[in-house]
Amino acid sequence: MNPVYFDNAATTPIRPEVIEVITSVMKNNYGNPSSSHSFGRSSKSLIEKYRKDIAAYFKVSPSEIIFTSGGTEADNLVLRSAVRDLGVEEIITSRIEHHAVLHTVEQLAYEYGIIINFVKLEPDGTINPFHLESLLVNSPNKKLVSLMHVNNEIGNKLNIEGLAELCKSNNALLHSDTVQSVGHYHINLSEIPIDFLAASAHKFHGPKGVGFCFIRKNSGLQPLIFGGEQERGYRAGTESVHNIAGLAEALKLSYKNLDAESDYVKGIKSYFIEQLKTEIPQVAFNGNSGDLEKSTYTSVNVCFPVAPEKGAMFLFQLDLKGIACSKGSACQSGSSQNSHVLAEILSEDDLLKPSIRFSFSIYNTKDEVDYVVKTLRDLVSH
Ligand SMILES: Cc1ncc(COP(=O)(O)O)c(C=O)c1O
Repeated sequence: MNPVYFDNAATTPIRPEVIEVITSVMKNNYGNPSSSHSFGRSSKSLIEKYRKDIAAYFKVSPSEIIFTSGGTEADNLVLRSAVRDLGVEEIITSRIEHHAVLHTVEQLAYEYGIIINFVKLEPDGTINPFHLESLLVNSPNKKLVSLMHVNNEIGNKLNIEGLAELCKSNNALLHSDTVQSVGHYHINLSEIPIDFLAASAHKFHGPKGVGFCFIRKNSGLQPLIFGGEQERGYRAGTESVHNIAGLAEALKLSYKNLDAESDYVKGIKSYFIEQLKTEIPQVAFNGNSGDLEKSTYTSVNVCFPVAPEKGAMFLFQLDLKGIACSKGSACQSGSSQNSHVLAEILSEDDLLKPSIRFSFSIYNTKDEVDYVVKTLRDLVSH
């Protein structure tokens, strides 16, 4: 069996078609988009074409799409400018956000003294809607809500439409980290009143180091990085034309084939869950990740019924067998990189057991699932 890559929530392999486009742009479109000669103009017009294509998937205006170095920068741009330039005094978020959001809001609280309110979570990791509503009506402070669409560890999928309406009716701005959902779900921003969102190409078979931020028109957001006039002044620095091309091509292919590909990947996930339940009946699924409707079709987070001493070596042993996946447990091997997400939702007993996130893509097969489940069964039983 060839090595098995079940870590697609960390990053995805780049589609060959995307590599071709990137290579061609690197060879043929090396002009600086800010140069006024024909080389520069051709790079500039490529970028604007890609911006238009991307905007169309979300039904927004091209001027509302700002290219960034990835999801982290997009999250930082929105959150920092919301506090610094829009007068946001209170951020409502959750303790299971990605660190790109969590560490940024902590830093903002330190720098600007803003209030951070963490919304209460249900035992399955979903947002408690009554608590969220009470936080929204609680004070006259100017508020921004930052909640992710799909959780990168437990895969829980938020009802983003309902959340957006709730924020709008309570006059709060809404930012959503959609890094794990862009390219995997359609998001119609002409109907969903989200103010800002963050996306990253390497999560949908594009290159690393490029992403974008959706900034709704007239929001008043200001740049994070100062310098030239690129991205209409929102994001200074010479554009990474080949990466933007790769992002646009990857997104085009993701949305073009979405129905067939998402069915395929969902089939892989559902087969994995079925086989796992058959071979290791005592497994548990963290958050809503075992529920195909309430979680993303791309990942599952599994808690294994083994003692902590044995669990500590789990990922290492899987790696030795050529299986790549991610640690999802708060206490494995006493590592400093414990999961802040599982720590919020699991009992102390379950935190001691190994939890692992398996995440899938179109390049995975049922044969790989058979091999991984057999390997896991052997690890659990020996
Ligand atoms: C939910 C989420 N937000 C933000 C990021 C950061 O994105 P990037 O790697 O493009 O900076 C990631 C990547 O792991 C993520 O999963």
